[in-house]
Amino acid sequence: MSVGKVVLAYSGGLDTSVMIKWIQEKYSAEVYTLTLDLGQRDDFREIEERARKIGSKEHFFVDAKSEFVERFIFPAIKANGFYEGKYPLSTALGRPLIAEKLVDVAHKVGADAVAHGSTGKGNDQVRFDITVRALDPELKVLAPVRDWGLSRDVELEYAKKWGLPISESRSKYSIDQNLWGRSVESGPLEDPFSEPEDDVYEWVTPPERAPDRPEYLTLTFKEGVPVALDGERRDPVSMIQALNAIAGRNGVGLVDHIEDRLVGIKSREVYEVPAALTVLEAHRDLEKMTLTVHELAVKAELEDVWSRLVYNGLWLEPLRRHIDAFIDSTQRVVSGDVRLKFYKGHLQVVGRRSPNSLYRLEMSTYARESKFNQQLAVGFIELWGMQTITANSVRSRASG
Ligand code: ARG
Repeated sequence: MSVGKVVLAYSGGLDTSVMIKWIQEKYSAEVYTLTLDLGQRDDFREIEERARKIGSKEHFFVDAKSEFVERFIFPAIKANGFYEGKYPLSTALGRPLIAEKLVDVAHKVGADAVAHGSTGKGNDQVRFDITVRALDPELKVLAPVRDWGLSRDVELEYAKKWGLPISESRSKYSIDQNLWGRSVESGPLEDPFSEPEDDVYEWVTPPERAPDRPEYLTLTFKEGVPVALDGERRDPVSMIQALNAIAGRNGVGLVDHIEDRLVGIKSREVYEVPAALTVLEAHRDLEKMTLTVHELAVKAELEDVWSRLVYNGLWLEPLRRHIDAFIDSTQRVVSGDVRLKFYKGHLQVVGRRSPNSLYRLEMSTYARESKFNQQLAVGFIELWGMQTITANSVRSRASG
């Protein structure tokens, strides 16, 4: 493959640092680097410096935090986005935005290729490749770790040979972070029976060391997304950051599960997702108060489709937009307050209220003045159970 100019998604880690030099050498190409701030708490100045030292022709930096929240996290909240009931899709939501910005920079500098550091064994390669190609089918996509089978040892040797200034902090884990969560894989976690050691966690205080008193919080939603904390309006980014801090210090936000990757592998995944678990729990609760049983049932099915599309790299699939249109239409009434209680790793919704509530005290109350006409229940049960009662009597006669 021949390429002239390549834009590389640069995290500052070992893989992508080696790739700057590797691509220059193997393809005799010019390498531009791009780093996005998605809330991963890195030192972006240091990253930029490293990119330049290794030989980036030009480094691009984009603070994409608020775009990430508004265009990716908010739809995920409205869709109650969870993969296999456990994973709030944090990494999966970040990838299409990175891919989109890669394409933008490629157009700006007139590049004919983009590059990313994914291996050939995960979901991220699928998300990058498909999103880039959906946006610009002319662009080539290089994935040197996959395409050249680069391993950690090979990379370290290569970095030494060229005297590359790689980052000292070499973790035994493979980590991806953004505002919506921190994904941790590999190393000691590859034994699915062994409990994650304490060095896995950075965002969440282990529940046994969390405060001995509960902490309460009221989260206000407007049309399906959180807008205020304890009555105080927050901008979307600081809202998510604050929730990560509050839930995290109370030991809330840990996920440890066996996940089915699109490429067939079952893997052990550990996540720190304090804000995500909190917002999704509260959002689901408020939906139960404001949506009808029929809306909830169909929405739940579509949520599962939505989550799979996103997990499986199809952010740009038109079906995702159609589902979003349905979901947005349901969210117009999902406004109100949810009271949450955090205590030593436990999160509980302890109250909810909404101007659009479908909860009717005069119907549900056990008190005598209830408006619910119990006599109507008799006829209702008669009709509702008709076929079941008939089938049981017909069939028991037939078999008896
Ligand atoms: N299994 C998750 C996903 O596919 C997380 C991937 C994390 N990536 C990483 N480089 N550690 O979305």
